[in-house]
Amino acid sequence: MQRTLIIFKPDAMNRMLVGRILTRFEDKGLRLVGMKLQKSARSQVEKHYEVHKERPFYNDLCDFMTSAPVIVAVLEGPQAIQVVRSMLGATNGVEAAAGTIRGDFGLDKQYNLVHASDGEDTARAEIDLFFKPEELVEYTRAPDSWIVS
Ligand code: CMP
Repeated sequence: MQRTLIIFKPDAMNRMLVGRILTRFEDKGLRLVGMKLQKSARSQVEKHYEVHKERPFYNDLCDFMTSAPVIVAVLEGPQAIQVVRSMLGATNGVEAAAGTIRGDFGLDKQYNLVHASDGEDTARAEIDLFFKPEELVEYTRAPDSWIVS
């Protein structure tokens, strides 16, 4: 089992797409182990996107991510990091394949609806940045035995 951090970005919130996107993750069988609504502190967003610090879009990206509340969540499942990134599609909605979340709902590279961790180390660091250990819940759901053999 693997965990990954996702963020419903301000565009997903303002476009009221959270429910429809979350349904896709639930339908896939991924388990929510943490979730909260927050207006992110600028310092938290700057740290989260530190790797992009030298990129020309970094400041705009930090402005965007603090412009409205977001929903941060942790999803769990087999190879959850790769599974979620495949479901999201390419960064830019214009290039994302039809059938992916960005391919179906987006047309932009900054307004790309959902962030997801891109590797095991980043997932661990991002989960630690956004969640306290006690905010993550371990549990099983009735259909779990029919989702993973
Ligand atoms: P995300 O997966 O959250 O990781 C970095 C974010 O930077 C990305 O999604 C986009 O929202 C944004 N981004 C990536 N490339 C560009 C770009 N060329 N111009 C503006 N924003 C970008």
